[in-house]
Amino acid sequence: MLSDLDPRGYCVLIASSEAHPLVKTGGLGDVAASLPMALRQLGHDARLILPAYPNAKKQVRELKPLMELRMSGVVGSVQLYGGLLPDRDLPVYLVDAPAYFCREGNPYTDVSGRDWGDNPERFLLFSRVVAHVAMGLPPLNWRPNILHSNDWQTGLAAALLREHDERPATVFTIHNLAYQGLFDRATFDRLRLPASLWSLSGLEFHQRMSFIKGGIVFSDRVNTVSPQYADAVRTQRFGCGLDGRLRPLGGRCRGTLHRTTHPRGQHPHDPPPTPRPAGERVHLKAENKLELQRLFGLPRDEHAFVVGHVGRLVEQKGVDLIIDILPRLVTAGRVQLVMQGAGDRALEQALQEAAAAHPERVSVHVGYDEARAHLIEAGSDAFLMPSRFEPCGLNQMYSLRYGTVPIVHNTGGLADTVVDASDAALAAGTANGFLFDDPNADGLWYALEKALRMQREQPQQWRALMLAGMRKDLSWQASARRYVDFYAEAIASRAPLHEAAMA
Ligand code: ADP
Ligand code: GLC
Repeated sequence: MLSDLDPRGYCVLIASSEAHPLVKTGGLGDVAASLPMALRQLGHDARLILPAYPNAKKQVRELKPLMELRMSGVVGSVQLYGGLLPDRDLPVYLVDAPAYFCREGNPYTDVSGRDWGDNPERFLLFSRVVAHVAMGLPPLNWRPNILHSNDWQTGLAAALLREHDERPATVFTIHNLAYQGLFDRATFDRLRLPASLWSLSGLEFHQRMSFIKGGIVFSDRVNTVSPQYADAVRTQRFGCGLDGRLRPLGGRCRGTLHRTTHPRGQHPHDPPPTPRPAGERVHLKAENKLELQRLFGLPRDEHAFVVGHVGRLVEQKGVDLIIDILPRLVTAGRVQLVMQGAGDRALEQALQEAAAAHPERVSVHVGYDEARAHLIEAGSDAFLMPSRFEPCGLNQMYSLRYGTVPIVHNTGGLADTVVDASDAALAAGTANGFLFDDPNADGLWYALEKALRMQREQPQQWRALMLAGMRKDLSWQASARRYVDFYAEAIASRAPLHEAAMA
């Protein structure tokens, strides 16, 4: 057992604005809980820090107040709490600043979906506390040698630590470069950040302040969440204006494929707590499909070809392409579509109208519901992800585990995890899904038709795709090991990227 542990034994503080099951709006929440657990299994002392949203505070086990932080310019009190995640032995620090984090809604928006107007203050405060904890606060009796921040909400932590000689090495993960935390100059002044940070080698980005740029330029190492997306962010098309910053970084900016921790036995349709070989699980598809049709009010038909989708309803995810293929989908024989998502009001409405117009074929649940999401992944024959870009994507991986064949756009993490059913891949037994190159309705429809034909006309091939997906190694261990190597590099050459770029 001991020989499996990494002798370097790092102390890693992982800062995130969400973590499952405390609070989650997307894949960041899954990753923020899975990665530290995988690191702990390798023998590292990884701990999580996030804001004390009401739902987080309610769920943390063995919650204890650790200390009060005295901070200038902050409204009300700031307390640091410690405890464990409810479903695993993962230490978590919660930053309790009720004036900033104790409110209804999600971490970023109010109940009507509007960004909180004080998001810059909220995530500056969070980053300030993260920076304090990263420096090792005496009452905690713990001092990390790595601070690992994630996305724009934690981007300022590395910027605030930049001048501390004793600071830990810093790693910053870009989960999605399209969300940058951009605010105007007046906000920068209001936040009273050091004036020196307003520069092109600092936070300034086209006359605005960019939180994510803080994470990129002031960290020792940067990564994105799949190798293909690491290439994509260096291009003008997907670089969101930061490609010029990322290109010169070479190996200091990498892609590390994220994985899934598959829930076992938590939801009614999860695989059983004790793993069983893929071959013994294929027959569960029929049962799950009938249950899915029942729950979503579709005709119960074991032989229908059911396609599913779960996700945030935003332009990135290409849900409009699914809407565009509906006229073809509802006239194809025995095809049903089950969708769940929330976000853009116009997309929500268009989907609800489609379901009302074709109640035998289309069923839509607008909202967020974990158990239903798992049932869609488990009970569908195929899972659609026509994302215009996808940094990593977790739903195609969940689908693979359930023997649900993903049909995805050939981009980012989708391209890194789905192997297209080409003749060569079928012959090699590696094919597990369908990729399409053109992110438009015809591209999606062509791939869907190909899948439908195979499922109907070549059931053995289809079964081979399901089995290849179920057997694919998607565990976190390999990714966690890559992170450990990345941490080692960051420690060995503790030089923020803005300095390295100038050297
Ligand atoms: P992103 O982080 O861009 O939203 P990912 O594919 O990485 O995309 O992760 C999305 C995560 O959020 C998955 O775990 C997915 O199941 C979950 N999710 C998204 N929308 C919903 C929803 N409406 N109901 C339940 N789970 C959802
Ligand atoms: C982001 C990306 C998604 C990725 C997730 C976890 O939300 O949009 O593709 O899977 O982060 O890294």
